[in-house]
Amino acid sequence: MSNNKFTVTAALPYANGPLHLGHVAGVYLPADIFVRFLRMKQEDVLFVCGSDEHGAAITLRAKKEETTPQAIVDKYHSINSKAFEDFNISFDIYSRTSKPIHHETAQEYFKTLNKKGSFIQKTTEQYFDEEYQQFLADRYITGTCPKCGHEEAYGDQCENCGSALSPTDLENPVSKLSGKTPILRETSHWFLPMNQHEDWLKDWIKEGKFEGNQLHNPKDWRNQVVGQCMSWIDGGLQPRAMTRDLDWGVKVPLEGADGKVLYVWLDAPIGYISATKEWAAENGKTWKDYWTGDRKLVHFIGKDNIVFHAIIFPILLKEHGGFVLPDNVPAYEFLNLEGDKFSTSRNWAVWLHEFIADHPDKVEELKYTLTAIAPESKDSEFTWKEFQTRVNNELADILGNFVNRAVVLTHKYFEGKVPERGELTAKDKDVLAQLKEFPQKIDQLIMQYKLRAAQAEAVNLARLGNKYLAETEPWKLAKTDMERVKTIMNIALQITANLSLAFKPFLPQKSAKIAHFLNLGELNWDKAGLDNLLDAGHAINKAEILISKVDDTFVEKEVEKLEASKVDTNSNYMPQKETINFEDFTKLDVRVAEILEAEKVKGADKLLKLTLNTGLDKRTVVSGIAEHYSAEEVIGKKVSVLMNLAPRKIRGVESQGMILMAEGPDGQLSFVSPERDLEIGGEVR
Ligand code: MF3
Ligand code: ZN
Repeated sequence: MSNNKFTVTAALPYANGPLHLGHVAGVYLPADIFVRFLRMKQEDVLFVCGSDEHGAAITLRAKKEETTPQAIVDKYHSINSKAFEDFNISFDIYSRTSKPIHHETAQEYFKTLNKKGSFIQKTTEQYFDEEYQQFLADRYITGTCPKCGHEEAYGDQCENCGSALSPTDLENPVSKLSGKTPILRETSHWFLPMNQHEDWLKDWIKEGKFEGNQLHNPKDWRNQVVGQCMSWIDGGLQPRAMTRDLDWGVKVPLEGADGKVLYVWLDAPIGYISATKEWAAENGKTWKDYWTGDRKLVHFIGKDNIVFHAIIFPILLKEHGGFVLPDNVPAYEFLNLEGDKFSTSRNWAVWLHEFIADHPDKVEELKYTLTAIAPESKDSEFTWKEFQTRVNNELADILGNFVNRAVVLTHKYFEGKVPERGELTAKDKDVLAQLKEFPQKIDQLIMQYKLRAAQAEAVNLARLGNKYLAETEPWKLAKTDMERVKTIMNIALQITANLSLAFKPFLPQKSAKIAHFLNLGELNWDKAGLDNLLDAGHAINKAEILISKVDDTFVEKEVEKLEASKVDTNSNYMPQKETINFEDFTKLDVRVAEILEAEKVKGADKLLKLTLNTGLDKRTVVSGIAEHYSAEEVIGKKVSVLMNLAPRKIRGVESQGMILMAEGPDGQLSFVSPERDLEIGGEVR
């Protein structure tokens, strides 16, 4: 048993949408495999994650869905934490950054840094939306990229050419709130002078050296990670604002900072620490043990997160003091889908929770495929055809086939008891020698974050078993030399037992199934490679199906589904909203009402104050139709009204419901009225 200590984090996903296979293949699955392997080696390991619930990504989504940021994060936190659970990702804790413990931790952290003088307070000009009376976060501004001319670059980044930008770099900036050109206005913020940290960062990233100590071997870091960091540093780091003018996020805990919150990329990584605190409190541990001393801190992330985890967060950790720096930051490239990028807006994605709901029996087949094609060193691609090929030709034909033969033949010839081994031939010895080698190969590869190759080694072990049976042909020998068959089957069963170990980090449920076929208890990694995991005479169980093949219809259906749900973003129609169930629908109380009185609301060009007869009562509703109807012409009209909408004050008038309007292509509005002359109060359903 070794005694290394690890704190492993997986990037906190934004709670602004569901997870798709790209996220899974390039962060959560590899992190889970790594952690499961460490646990098998009985290392001391903590695995933390949670929802990232702040930032403009969330508030923009809320605006788009016409709801509140809180409703958005509640919804997606629940979808995503359930999907992780169903996908068997073995976090020790999955927290969320909206928790009080996180707000406190992030605020304390900020205060400490502020006291130490880690920030510079500066007044700068930033874009401000006059209509909404709001400063605009980088993501709230789009415009033309000065580097490549892409017309929809964001204020912080151009997704077309990958350049890092600041909002004032954009040509023709437009506010995402009002759609208008924002103005520049002065505001004061706390900046992290990243430029003052270039020297030590260089030593640490390039050489692994920090304050005279050799912390890690820089060769262990992926080239792309070191490369990206060095190009940032060589290009000159700029001071970066650590606070924002927003009302959603962790409040800046200082006097005179009203209306300001911590920058999401300051608050989110601190979420790893808060999650550790929460877990430690629940489990009677000391959280600091997981962030100090000889702990190895490992951040699994996607490549778009490199600068935040390998430059900004390390600066924050160093400035605070008393924390380890990351030992490694394994960053993943991107996964594509059927020849195109994953895209939420175009709905070009396989969503994790949907896959699980549709194919609960294929969860580990998916894991296998995603690891086999993981974008470790370059972008890669998921196709349903590839899924079929991997499952059928590798999992079923190699692993499934071998395990099944070993178990079935043992029942056929030896009544399900492990036979005794006799004298070994040269071939037997060779196979056992190869068996002995696999644990070290897998260990080395996993510890270098080469999980694709590590999983391939597990498959190779099954291949070895298949080849051994094919060459020794026990089913033929059974007629002439049962003693020899005993030896062969004993060896085949020892290989099977080892397969359960070799696949355990990758496919824990399949591994458990194999162990169950063999009637074998829980084993740790120190047993891997041994050829005496099963004693002669040990009774095994019957084989069941381990892997089912994927047929062509499955592939066709999935591809069709993907094509059918694709959204054409060039179309003028609003994409269909998310599916609701019948119960959701029945919550709406819509009725036919008659407009009795109407008058303009003072000081508001668009609003009419209406008095309705709803059949049930007379009530006031404020409606934004004054540009489409005059007060006189609406009196006497029969309209549809949403009765049970919570009352809202609009321009000082309480509105007790909402008139339903149909919208034409150029924004004209029309009442939705019964086509026959019905009585007032009838329900619309
Ligand atoms: N929410 C970010 C993203 O999805 C990742 C945050 S990782 C953290 O890109 F460390 F900052 F939490
Ligand atoms: Zn660009």
